[in-house]
Amino acid sequence: MPGLVIVGAQWGDEGKGKVTDLLAERADVVIRFQGGNNAGHTIIRDGETFKFHLIPSGILYPGKTCAIGNGVVIDPGVLTGEIEGLRERGVDISGLRVSANAHLIMPYHVLLDTAGEIRLGKLEIGTTRRGIGPCYADKASRLGIRVQDLLDEKILRKKIMAAMEPKQQMLRPFVKDPALDLHTMTETYMTYGHRLEPHIADTAKLCWDALDRDATVLFEGAQGTMLDLDHGTYPFVTSSNPIAGSATIGAGVGPGDLNEVWGIAKAYATRVGAGPFPTELDDEMGELLRERGGEVGTTTGRDRRTGWIDTVALRYGRRLNGLTALVVTKLDVLSGIDPLRICVRYRHPDGAVFDEFPYHQSIIHAVEPEYEEMPGFEGDISAARREEDLPAEARDYLNALTDHTGVPVVLVGVGPGREQVIWMGKEAEQRLSAAT
Ligand code: GDP
Ligand code: IMO
Ligand code: MG
Repeated sequence: MPGLVIVGAQWGDEGKGKVTDLLAERADVVIRFQGGNNAGHTIIRDGETFKFHLIPSGILYPGKTCAIGNGVVIDPGVLTGEIEGLRERGVDISGLRVSANAHLIMPYHVLLDTAGEIRLGKLEIGTTRRGIGPCYADKASRLGIRVQDLLDEKILRKKIMAAMEPKQQMLRPFVKDPALDLHTMTETYMTYGHRLEPHIADTAKLCWDALDRDATVLFEGAQGTMLDLDHGTYPFVTSSNPIAGSATIGAGVGPGDLNEVWGIAKAYATRVGAGPFPTELDDEMGELLRERGGEVGTTTGRDRRTGWIDTVALRYGRRLNGLTALVVTKLDVLSGIDPLRICVRYRHPDGAVFDEFPYHQSIIHAVEPEYEEMPGFEGDISAARREEDLPAEARDYLNALTDHTGVPVVLVGVGPGREQVIWMGKEAEQRLSAAT
């Protein structure tokens, strides 16, 4: 004990990377448990920017054990590139561990992801086209190729053949793609295997050992609650479960090992890709949030859709994740906006009111948000480090979020830098001592 899970409470890009980096200092192990390089976690440390897609956001602490758990899907080309990039910048990656059981994204997964989106046309999901969905599909079909398979050429070749065989039809348009040649693919993946070998490990055991010595294990989520394969806005979701319970499966620990679950939410809301987004703003305010918040995707460079914060979705996330604390990032972006709006319920055109997130997709698409208006705050808050440094209206806004979600706000982001945070009083101390 203890285990602390960091999850996205909205549609991803809430600032999980920054919060993980901040808390990693107190943890012995930081582990990713789901998703793949569809994630993009940005960390700004002493003015230097790092973008992580696969490597856990704790890697900037020299020697820190940073694990990629069995639940993650790994594109080994991206992972080796990320390792190389960090080495060139002088980052010590000796603590990096990669689960032998994690599944590998293969060249055909990437091609099939794109082909699937093209086939859907206007109905596309807006995936990151990194091969995430097809890789998880192969995992469930028991046609997946795992990290440990990279260490045995014969097995690797056989498994690639078996995995490609049922895809012949779908892969026909790419038949001339050299990346799909069995020999080339096996060779390339063997090379990745050699490069990754020193990092391959039993990552579940690393977590157990740390928990046994009472050290903190930090489980770093990717994506967000509303993109969850089971509970999100299906089919406009990712192909893994970003919610907290998934940390047990994706890292290999028991439910009782997850002591604290902190949900990360922006002070407003964003979404990349298609799908319902009840509080979306298609107007100048939406544009202002995008511009001020720098809302451009870390992974794909796509503009993020923007809107007001949605406490119906956050209450849903509270239950799904068992949130013990809320972290509100990017409060600084809201400065000067008056009034501020908080979505507190949805209303359907037929008059039905929803205090809880509706389960029916057609309803989610049709509802309109109902807002509570709050007075805005003025001025640059990026230098605030204590709750008292915040304007009263900003504190009122945070209190309203706690009231509407039932989850205490323990940490607030007032800028992208790792030091630009405010720990919120006694509640923060309590949660922090429970977590570390
Ligand atoms: P993640 O995927 O959840 O790790 O989030 P991303 O890194 O994709 O997106 C969050 C963006 O917001 C990054 O560019 C961060 O540097 C930035 N960020 C995080 N916290 C804050 C904050 O409190 N204020 C501001 N202005 N930017 C922040
Ligand atoms: P982080 O960890 C935001 C979205 C995609 C698309 C949907 C499915 O940085 O918060 P996928 O490629 O996963 O099959 O795409 O999920 N998506 C994300 N949106 N942040 C992410 O990760 C995301 N990862 C996937 O835009 O709508
Ligand atoms: Mg991101």
